[in-house]
Amino acid sequence: MDMFEIEGSRRLSGEIAVNGSKNAALPIMAAALLTQEPVRLSDVPDLSDIRNMQKLLTELGCAVERTGKHDCILHTTDTTESHARYDIVKTMRASVCVLGPLLAARGKARVSLPGGCAIGQRPIDLHLKGLEALGATFELEGGDVIGRVPGGRLRGNRIFLGGAFGSTVLGTANILSAAVLAQGTTVIESAACEPEIVDLANLLSAMGARITGAGSPRIVVEGVEQLGGGSHQIIPDRIEAGTFMVAAAITAGELTITNCPLDALMAATNCLEQIGVEVEALDDASSMRARVRVAGGRALRPCDITTQPHPGFPTDLQAQFMALLTLADGTSVITEKIFPERFLHVAELSRMGAQLFRQGPTAIVSGVRRLVGAPVMASDLRASAGLVLAGLAAEGTTRVLRVYHLDRGYEKLEERLAKVGARIKRVSEEE
Ligand code: UD1
Repeated sequence: MDMFEIEGSRRLSGEIAVNGSKNAALPIMAAALLTQEPVRLSDVPDLSDIRNMQKLLTELGCAVERTGKHDCILHTTDTTESHARYDIVKTMRASVCVLGPLLAARGKARVSLPGGCAIGQRPIDLHLKGLEALGATFELEGGDVIGRVPGGRLRGNRIFLGGAFGSTVLGTANILSAAVLAQGTTVIESAACEPEIVDLANLLSAMGARITGAGSPRIVVEGVEQLGGGSHQIIPDRIEAGTFMVAAAITAGELTITNCPLDALMAATNCLEQIGVEVEALDDASSMRARVRVAGGRALRPCDITTQPHPGFPTDLQAQFMALLTLADGTSVITEKIFPERFLHVAELSRMGAQLFRQGPTAIVSGVRRLVGAPVMASDLRASAGLVLAGLAAEGTTRVLRVYHLDRGYEKLEERLAKVGARIKRVSEEE
């Protein structure tokens, strides 16, 4: 297993580019199951989650050919296999996003039920409720959800998809990807408004789907008989962009972030401005591919953050902002409204000298003057990113263990941070 070794207290400066979005790419890749014509994608990041999806699609008869570092062609040629096996699903919960496309295109699906994960219980009841409303039936066998479509074709319906924690992103992706081939009209109310859903809808529309309202809480889909192929460039990753912004801020550095989806980051940039970090669009602030200058350097002010569905503050940036606020001059309150258990980084940041107190879904962050390097480990992707950021600011050496979690969502993070002045390297934990 690999770890990162970081010598902290170095200001970052220079230019860093944001890669394509993992969370947009995963359901978009699964949508290639909806057609037997080729789907061409660019800006697909080279990450372990993407490689897992590639493996899963290949097992499901959809060949994935990498035509460049970040380009691929997906082509479904064999529709006989509809089983997403536990081996793959257990490594990546997002495998569940093949469920909707399989039911719509093949009338059947067998998907191993994703278990809980480090950030808490993660049910798929809303996915199933939505697909049932479209006419699918489900039973559970051997830990697998077996879905069938009596009559072979889904039927449009009106679906309320809100749950106790708001809407569901992958649930919306699943219902949307199923409704495009259903007979008649589907209305998804309380749909997720995340930019990744808009990106999926854009690809589906390019394939011939008829969708309005993506990006709003009400999506309307007029089902079509079949879909063709399409070409699509994946949007840049807003969570990676937000992580780079915090990297500039926490090291009192200055980064120019290119290919930055600034328009999708308003909640995060609003917090950064409150904290005292300069965020300046060097071109169009309403762009999803902007050039943005982010400069720390002034004293950090505290800021209260509540995670919410988009356009609220993203849960996937909570750990990174907590790392930043550990160094603010005062007390911040961070409340997690999407995954109330998502605080694995609290104990680890405390090992680096952070003053944190967690109660239920809330953490109180009392700013300290400095963090000190330590060996730390987190068992989820974004918590690990928070620890790397803390390591960049801390005095001395920080070792972030088990970076395979981080590799799920950030491509060669250490090399890219090193290019802007971080002293960070990947070493084997055995060394
Ligand atoms: C996606 C993202 C993940 C992000 C999350 C919230 C991908 C691959 N992952 O995950 O990085 O943190 O959105 O922005 O895109 N819920 C239910 N029932 C369901 C489904 C969800 O109760 O059937 C609950 C979840 O437990 C959670 C909340 O709804 O409390 C939101 O989860 P959801 O939006 O579904 O997260 P994912 O789509 O799995």
